[in-house]
Amino acid sequence: MEPKLLLMVLFIVSSTAAAAQYIRPLPRKALHLPWDSKSSSYPQQVHISLAGDRHMRVTWITDDKSAPSTVEYGTLPGQYDSVADGETTSYSYLFYSSGTIHHTVIGPLEYNYVYYYRCGGQGPEFQLKTPPAQFPITFAVAGDLGQTGWTKSTLDHIDQCKYNVHLLPGDLSYADYIQHRWDSFGRLVQPLASARPWMVTQGNHEVESIPLLKDGFVSYNSRWKMPFEESGSNSNLYYSFEVAGVHIIMLGSYADYDEYSEQYRWLKADLSKVDRKRTPWLFVLFHVPWYNSNTAHQGEGADMMTAMEPLLYAASVDLVLAGHVHAYERSKRVYNGRPDPCGSVHITIGDGGNKEGLAARYINPQPIWSEFRESSFGHGELKVVNSTHAFWSWHRNDDDEPVKSDDIWISSLTGSECFDQKRNELRNKLMTP
Ligand SMILES: [Fe+2]
Repeated sequence: MEPKLLLMVLFIVSSTAAAAQYIRPLPRKALHLPWDSKSSSYPQQVHISLAGDRHMRVTWITDDKSAPSTVEYGTLPGQYDSVADGETTSYSYLFYSSGTIHHTVIGPLEYNYVYYYRCGGQGPEFQLKTPPAQFPITFAVAGDLGQTGWTKSTLDHIDQCKYNVHLLPGDLSYADYIQHRWDSFGRLVQPLASARPWMVTQGNHEVESIPLLKDGFVSYNSRWKMPFEESGSNSNLYYSFEVAGVHIIMLGSYADYDEYSEQYRWLKADLSKVDRKRTPWLFVLFHVPWYNSNTAHQGEGADMMTAMEPLLYAASVDLVLAGHVHAYERSKRVYNGRPDPCGSVHITIGDGGNKEGLAARYINPQPIWSEFRESSFGHGELKVVNSTHAFWSWHRNDDDEPVKSDDIWISSLTGSECFDQKRNELRNKLMTP
């Protein structure tokens, strides 16, 4: 080839490669969410969560200690034909005193229905939609949210998708001991979290313990009460719930998890109640991923995985969702570090947009169990179409909401030979004291 022609070819190839190269966006600043002065009994930071079959827990905060914990609700705007009363809590943390935190359970509610409600007898009317009784049901998934410009971008994307329940595998506010940041996070998520149930589990940023001064999870447990009592657990750090043919177990990466622990005992009891005829799908969420090929937090989930993976494998868990690593990764079906057709699909979705930025470095070569990995902010959507098929998609914040950067059909293990093969294995594990 002529030298001139060769130079021209090299130029075209290099400029094409440069055009295709992905330019990683810069971190975005923390949001400024100013205190909006209202009367002291005005309901703030409203969010809802599932609280047993056909029931919903409404949580909000008032400055006024004597504000009532009533929720008025009904199926027509401004016409409340039902009312429920709840409980309150509050906490102090060094020089900070929280407002009064109200938790009120409403129901029984109709499935797949819009309700209008008002908290404490005043303030704005909110609107919520209950999940359907059966398939299809769609979950939005994003962990490690924080409260930056990227968090806002993630929430805006989620707001555009039609979903029934939000699943959050840990690390909510990134308050990191500065308690008023829990309040600003509550204000940031209220538009979404007051309209659809937010089901969360804890991450390391929820711990906030101070040796000799403060126990862990004081703020998280006070503000984000989940249905642990309804699911036979004695800790808000691990619980389960059922919705539209799906049994979902929320585990605690920061609670004891060895085989002699209370969490392990509860997990066995919960699995023994799962009826895969009623709930053909079984999902598990926790914060620290077991399958992670990012250099960030490498190996941190190993002890929990050693303790609990055999039990989840025997139980034919379809899907495991984790956070912690600020990036996205999806595995093949996997067990004990190797691809296994009877294992779970593991997804790390800690890419909600927090202040710490993205985790950009990966171990190479890519492990054989890892199917897709990318360090970008985004969220996941999981549409469980029927008892056998679910569609998972991952949406990058850089793209428009309809763009799917990764997607896959997942079939339930209940329809596979694995499920029948492992029946005895599970029975033996659950019967072992
Ligand atoms: Fe984390």
